[in-house]
Amino acid sequence: MNGVWEIRLFQQKKKPHYTFDHPGVFTVSLGVKDEEGAFGSSSIKLKVGNALPKLSIDINGNSSFYWDNSILSYQISVRDEEDGTLGAGITEDEVVTTIDYLQEGLDRNVIAMEHGALSQLGMGRFLIENSDCNSCHQEEKKSIGPSFYAISKKYQMDSSAKKYLVEKIQNGGAGVWGEVAMAAHPALADSDAGSMVDYILSLGRQDIVNNLPTSGKYTFQEHMKKESQGVYVFTASYTDKGGEMIGPLTQQQTLILRKPIISAVNFDDGLRTQSMNIEAGTVPGLDEALALIIGEAGSYYVYEDIDFKGISTVNVTILQHPQYMNGGILELRMDSVGGAIIQSLNIEQGLLDLGPSDLKFNVSEFEGMHDLYMLFKSHENKPICAVTDIAFLR
Ligand code: HEC
Repeated sequence: MNGVWEIRLFQQKKKPHYTFDHPGVFTVSLGVKDEEGAFGSSSIKLKVGNALPKLSIDINGNSSFYWDNSILSYQISVRDEEDGTLGAGITEDEVVTTIDYLQEGLDRNVIAMEHGALSQLGMGRFLIENSDCNSCHQEEKKSIGPSFYAISKKYQMDSSAKKYLVEKIQNGGAGVWGEVAMAAHPALADSDAGSMVDYILSLGRQDIVNNLPTSGKYTFQEHMKKESQGVYVFTASYTDKGGEMIGPLTQQQTLILRKPIISAVNFDDGLRTQSMNIEAGTVPGLDEALALIIGEAGSYYVYEDIDFKGISTVNVTILQHPQYMNGGILELRMDSVGGAIIQSLNIEQGLLDLGPSDLKFNVSEFEGMHDLYMLFKSHENKPICAVTDIAFLR
């Protein structure tokens, strides 16, 4: 769209309405003038003419955890107002479905992507199309600047690349790819430049990921081959064909599956919580560092958003020591301090050795997503026990 239209629509109306009747990118501004004549304004960009596709992943199985050789059955559905649905307007290979095993656990980007309402990658692509980047860059071929694909390949393994590239786009400069300089983009916000970089870096990744069918079964074995306990990231995304004036939009869903053992110190919330790190060698017989929480009388710990589908038992590993731990009651409940009781176990005062013991709680009657509450109770104001891990058994 060339030029700027200005439509002055509303004066002094509290809830203005406007229906857009042509596609395009519109800036909606609100200006306010006070009695002294001082003026302030703010604006947002609206994209009209291409609805964001809808995409969902339905799974049959647990959506929080994986186990050795466990199987995830999944089905992806896609619906786009302009393009149709999967099988009717949208073909199987237009949906990118991948499962990646990350040995090192999760990095922040993945989490941000999971929680972002609008896909980061779709946003980055949109911003690039609405800036001047394409006058010097193409996705696959070199033009005035290097291709985005080549940039992605070059920085694929470099974890500090994002920060560097954001600054380079903002400041411009030459010398990395040749003598020609990139224009500076001083007005570009860090977050927008960041989305652009995420998108550029994602391009070269596409040939190392496996494109799975839109419905099928996946067996969790990669962690066994690598002898590690990382996370599986299951992602499905669809980029639509784009409207007349609006570029294509991408929708993405991500599911993260982790090992079925949570270290007790990774609680999400609680009351009178206390965690400790015991270094190797400081206690006789302890040859690995140990992280634990202390169950003070009246304290509780919460582990949020756990899918109990297919889980029969929660195994809580506790430590006791007669000098510090006095025994009492350990109670598991669902969803709140006063929620459904899973089981209340009486813990005797610790014996002489600091050995771990396993307490098993039967959860087979529960299904679906819950917050798990672990409560410690005693008549005396002394700790009941310490907890190291919580495991979810099938
Ligand atoms: C005037 C032409 C021009 C425009 C406009 C332009 N670029 Fe560039 N870009 C270049 C050139 C030339 C290089 C190579 C610079 C070098 O060798 O250091 C480059 C390099 C890059 C790099 C890699 C930087 C590095 O150090 O490896 C990225 C990422 C990039 N551009 C993104 C963008 C984005 C995003 C936009 C739009 C906001 C954009 N560029 C707009 C010409 C341009």
